Amino acid sequence: MNNSIVILQFSPRNKGNCGTISAFLRDYYGPEKAAEFQIASGVFGPCGHCDYECLKPGVQCPSLTDKEREILDAVCRAELVYFIVPNYCGWPCANYFAFNERTVGYFNGDRQRMRQYMDVKKRFIVISNSEGFEAAMRQQAEQPEILYLKSRAYGKQSIAGDLLDSQEARNDLLRFIAGAHPEESEIVPAENNGLS
Ligand SMILES: Cc1cc2nc3c(=O)[nH]c(=O)nc-3n(C[C@H](O)[C@H](O)[C@H](O)COP(=O)(O)O)c2cc1C
Repeated sequence: MNNSIVILQFSPRNKGNCGTISAFLRDYYGPEKAAEFQIASGVFGPCGHCDYECLKPGVQCPSLTDKEREILDAVCRAELVYFIVPNYCGWPCANYFAFNERTVGYFNGDRQRMRQYMDVKKRFIVISNSEGFEAAMRQQAEQPEILYLKSRAYGKQSIAGDLLDSQEARNDLLRFIAGAHPEESEIVPAENNGLS
């Protein structure tokens, strides 16, 4: 199936901020157009347990699973991919780094595939009171466009997972989504998401 919008959320919590934002995006575009993937609970394992076969000519990554390939294929086919990433201890969470490491095995030295992956349009939503994730996200896109949703700015505590209860946060998110579609003068959401 070729979903044109792919949503990757990296928190293990289904109903935390990342999960809620992922569902918001899915409803915004509509489930026929958007595919959601939760990259958590070992979906992507960190690299290791091998002799770096992925970096040797003609040798396949022995660790790449069918699920990992399915997700990375979906990214390559997408028109637009959203990454929703929580800050853990000042950095993107470990699930993001495991995903990023496995792309090396997925590319397997195939520069054309790497180029195809990098050329897919991507947007990044980071749940964090601080900034500075550009370098990490540059692994996915040369000039990453990042929305930092800062719980403190909305009078919230992020562990409550209720950032989108803030109308201001929803408006910031909706503006960021609209910014991904500059060619469309008016975005018509799949459902009324309450932009005011
Ligand atoms: C281990 C851990 C470390 C965290 N460190 C930070 C941090 O350094 N800065 C920050 O703004 N939030 C930090 N947080 C808060 C999370 O980014 C925040 O709760 C976010 O909403 C988690 O995503 P979720 O709600 O989808 O699970 C941390 C959370 C955890 C679990």
